[in-house]
Amino acid sequence: MYTAVALDGPAGAGKSSIAKRAAKELDFIYVDTGALYRTVGYAATLEGIEPVDSPEVDSLLTRIAVDLTFNDRGEQIVLLNGEDVSSFIRTPEASMTASKISAIPKVRAFLLDLQRNMAKTHNVIMDGRDIGTVVLPDAQVKIFLTASPEARAGRRYKELIEKGMNVNYKDILKDVIARDYNDSHRETAPLKPAEGCVTVDTTELDFEQSVAKIISVIKEKL
Ligand code: DC
Repeated sequence: MYTAVALDGPAGAGKSSIAKRAAKELDFIYVDTGALYRTVGYAATLEGIEPVDSPEVDSLLTRIAVDLTFNDRGEQIVLLNGEDVSSFIRTPEASMTASKISAIPKVRAFLLDLQRNMAKTHNVIMDGRDIGTVVLPDAQVKIFLTASPEARAGRRYKELIEKGMNVNYKDILKDVIARDYNDSHRETAPLKPAEGCVTVDTTELDFEQSVAKIISVIKEKL
């Protein structure tokens, strides 16, 4: 029997960096499900297909294979038709495409088994939007990690600038608000706290404090 921690919340709440570290300390694997939606969006972009519910997207899903693997350092690698696309899916454009394509029910259904199989075969901290509500409703621990839009935009801005990208804070804040809206207003699997989840707000917490909080919530529940 494996243990699953479902970690949901809006874009930029720090889920991935916090979950990565917590997973390391607990010896769980960390699964970033946003990368899967990003990869489907990337596949659509490569073929010039709009990220909207359409026969073109349906057909795309019959032609692509999306898979997850891990490198020697335990970092997640996402594969599109067997090729590592991890470094192509992190641009602001890829974020927006992922948000749009993730609203399509067939895309969500396409990625469901892959996510559930990861939890059947490993102890996982799985990060996403609907992990506690749809993907792993029986997860032993459910956490909703959030922070104010301004705090989230500020963190994303810093991250992208450090990567050498040419971005401005106001555009990022606008993107964060638009993505929150898309992610929480779609009909299929909208972003919302799962029943029985613990909500953790990191607006006033730094990274180390956030990690400590998440680990204590997990340990308390197990
Ligand atoms: O976590 P992220 O920013 O990499 O996610 C990219 C997009 O994918 C996000 O806008 C919402 C969507 N997503 C989703 O709908 N369900 C998930 N489990 C994970 C991400």
